[in-house]
Amino acid sequence: MRQHTTFRQLEIFEAIARLGSFTRASEELFLTQPTVSMQMKKLAETVGAPLIEQVGKKIHLTPDGLQLAQATREVFDIMDRYTMSVAERQGLKQGRLSLMAITTASYFAPRLLGEFAKLYPGIDVSLRVTNKEQVLASIADNLDDLYFLGQPPEDIDVVATPIMDNPIVVLAAPDHPLAGKKKISLQRIAQEPWLMREKGSGTRNAIERCFAEQEITIRPRLELGSNEAIKQAILAGLGISALSRHTLTLNQPGQFAVLDVEGFPILRHWYAVYPAGRQLSVVARAFLDYLLGRGDAAPAAAGKRK
Ligand code: PGA
Repeated sequence: MRQHTTFRQLEIFEAIARLGSFTRASEELFLTQPTVSMQMKKLAETVGAPLIEQVGKKIHLTPDGLQLAQATREVFDIMDRYTMSVAERQGLKQGRLSLMAITTASYFAPRLLGEFAKLYPGIDVSLRVTNKEQVLASIADNLDDLYFLGQPPEDIDVVATPIMDNPIVVLAAPDHPLAGKKKISLQRIAQEPWLMREKGSGTRNAIERCFAEQEITIRPRLELGSNEAIKQAILAGLGISALSRHTLTLNQPGQFAVLDVEGFPILRHWYAVYPAGRQLSVVARAFLDYLLGRGDAAPAAAGKRK
């Protein structure tokens, strides 16, 4: 009866070819030496040609043996790829994805997560939306898979991938006298009563930097701790402000006037961030790939940031 080559025999043969020794191959595979020798004898019989030659203490592969070693490596590579793809599919069927977003990112993060969850309904998703301080503390503790931020942290070693543009635009009530004016100067806009986000807000930092670069100071009339509160104050005629354009997604077009101010929009990005030492899960990697494949990812490449 014709014998068949077994996977086990190929495994032993590959180990001998790689390690150059029957003894070391038997140790690596936890087999006895007689078992290894017997299996190699059977393998050579099945193939119908000698595969391994022993010269003194050294072993050599015959030309047929060399070819079989190559074929064996290819078989194992194919099997490895197959096993990995099964694991990935299973991970994507039932994995978990835990995200954390800074407050302003809540205007887009739930939508993206919702779209992804529809593609992979078996994945258990969680999203926490909180302030910058807590996001930074969680990154440092390596608690979640990915974090959405307007600016990668500077004192934590992270991988930061720009996933979307985040333009900061100047907003006023639609009946504001500057609405519709072209190229309003920074000096002029600085004279308006400004409504500002709380200290530490990324939006506020970006606005302050923009004015500071021109050595202009603005004095906030009101300081409010959320984008929505600022929008309400604008509509109430208390002043103007600059916010991420994403904060307008839930508003009717025309509910606010976007002023044409020199130096605006301030071009920023949203980043997906994770600690540099973290191995992303299959699900987190798939989510990041999904974000980058959506077409509105920022052109700048991902980078490791300290
Ligand atoms: P916020 O937004 O801190 O102003 O809420 C995040 C950012 O734009 O950096």
